[in-house]
Formats: sequence, structure tokens, C-alpha cells
Amino acid sequence: MITVTRIGKHLGAHISGVDLSRPVDDDTFAQIAKAFFDNEVAFFRNQKITPEHQVAFTRRFGTLEQHVRKESRLAEHPEILIVSNVLDDKGNAIGSQDAGRFWHSDLSYKKEPSMLSALYALEVPIKDARVLGDTSFASTTAAYDALPEDTKRRISGLKNVHSYRFYRAKNVEAQKQEQASGGRVIQEQVLSEEQLKSVPDVETPLVRTHPVTKRKGLFVNEAHTSHIVGMPPSESEKLLSELYQHIIKPEFVYTHKWQPGDLLMWDNAAVQHKATFDYDLPLRRLMYRTTVRGTAAY
Ligand code: OGA
Ligand code: MN
Repeated sequence: MITVTRIGKHLGAHISGVDLSRPVDDDTFAQIAKAFFDNEVAFFRNQKITPEHQVAFTRRFGTLEQHVRKESRLAEHPEILIVSNVLDDKGNAIGSQDAGRFWHSDLSYKKEPSMLSALYALEVPIKDARVLGDTSFASTTAAYDALPEDTKRRISGLKNVHSYRFYRAKNVEAQKQEQASGGRVIQEQVLSEEQLKSVPDVETPLVRTHPVTKRKGLFVNEAHTSHIVGMPPSESEKLLSELYQHIIKPEFVYTHKWQPGDLLMWDNAAVQHKATFDYDLPLRRLMYRTTVRGTAAY
């Protein structure tokens, strides 16, 4: 028997009564999928699962992606992206050290952006009995619904460009600033021209319709959106910054406090998310991510 408990005002649910290290029957899977799409973010606690379990379970939602950042994939399991601040014995980062620095949805810069991502927490930083490294999620559907009618009319039909190159440039700049002010050292991963070519900029609707729930949501984010198509730059920047501020109003946000053994999934067509970097080595954080491919936004 599975139990679904809503946590946040507009999003976030705890699903209990499921052991993901065991086969999940079709009826249970259907209940999980429904809870997931209804709540936009859903998590299971105290799971003891291997990469094989995570891959097998999340694959039931669709095709798994292999991330363009090859160096951050788990050896033997290219569908798993390591998200971690941990270094190997040579001092090299074992995974992506600063995933989620800005509000974003995963792979939104792809023609077929991700539908679902799942993070499995192996190690979580704790200091003075407090868990660090929370992840926040904001419902872009609830944020859209709450917009004034004239804003809805104004943004209807607009397109925005999602760009991996834009993101890289922005992130490198932020890394430099962080280091200059005595912060963490992030190992910049150089992408080949070929890797970059595999993620060309995409022009996509600013308001998208969710492929399953049919709810409308705001499909713009500060990490990947370079500009609104056909709008003077200053006007585009102003509108984008208004929308970004609106989306992350507290009532649309659920912040997850991690426990080792959490498997948390979020709906990239409905929410944006952001990491909190309030920890550093020797406090370790280790997560495995699988990412399910979605369909082009419309
Ligand atoms: C991600 C991500 C945030 C975090 O894995 O896609 O954005 O808190 N992670 O690790
Ligand atoms: Mn992410």
C-alpha cells in the first residue's frame, strides 16, 4: 500500500510504502506516476538501491539521457550523472561540482528537454546536527496560474532561446567570482567543439503546456534563457527578471532537506530547481542522477 503525503503548498510529496530495490508492479508504478505528476516533486525515503535499481526504476518513465559532460558520468553506468563535491585520490572531481548553481530545469536547452530527473542521495553534508546542501524547487505551473491576466496575455505566444553556451559562460563567470572571493574551487570541465555542437541553442515557447497534465507553465529560467525572441534586449531582460522573481515566491517553492537514502524525482516540465552551496569539503555530498528524456515543448 503506498501513501502519498503532500508537503508544500503547491508541490512536493512524500511517497511511502515502496521499496525500490524490489520489482515495482504495474499498478504500484501507475500510482507512483500519478502522484509524481500531481505533485511535481516526489520523494521516497530510506531506499537502499544500486545504480541498476535506479536505472531500472526511472527508465520506466522513458528513455534515459547520457549527459554531455562525459567526465561526470558513473563508469559502467553512463545513464548516471554524478553530482558531488567529492574528489578522487588524484584530486580530480568525480562528478559535477556545481550543478544547480542557478534556477533551471534540466536539459531545457535541448530540443527534447528532460521530463523527469531523479536524484539518489548517498552522502549528505551535516554540520552541527544540521543538514546542508538543500535543493529548492519552484512550481512554474502554480506561478503561471497566479499571474495577472494582462501578463498572461502579454507573454502568450512569446518564444525564448535556451542556450547551453549562454549557461556555460554565465557559470564560468560565477565560478571565477566565487574563487576570487575565497570560495570553493570548481574544476572547469572543458567541452570539445563536438560536444558543444551536440547542444545547439533552441527557440522554445515561453509558456508551455505540460504534456501529461496539460497545465500551462512558465518555460524560462535564469540559467539557460539567453533572451526573448524579437524583443529589444533591455525589455527582454526586464520581463525575464520579473518572471524569475515571480516564479520563486515562497508560496511556489518547496525546499528539500536531504537524508541519505532519499530518491527524489522532479518534473522538469513543471518545476525549476536550485542547489544551495552552504557546505564544502571535508563535508561530502554525493548524489546519483538519472534523467528521463521528454518531448519538445509546445
Ligand atoms: C541536478 C541539480 C541540485 C542539487 O542534479 O540537476 O540541479 O542540489 N542538482 O544537487
Ligand atoms: Mn539540475
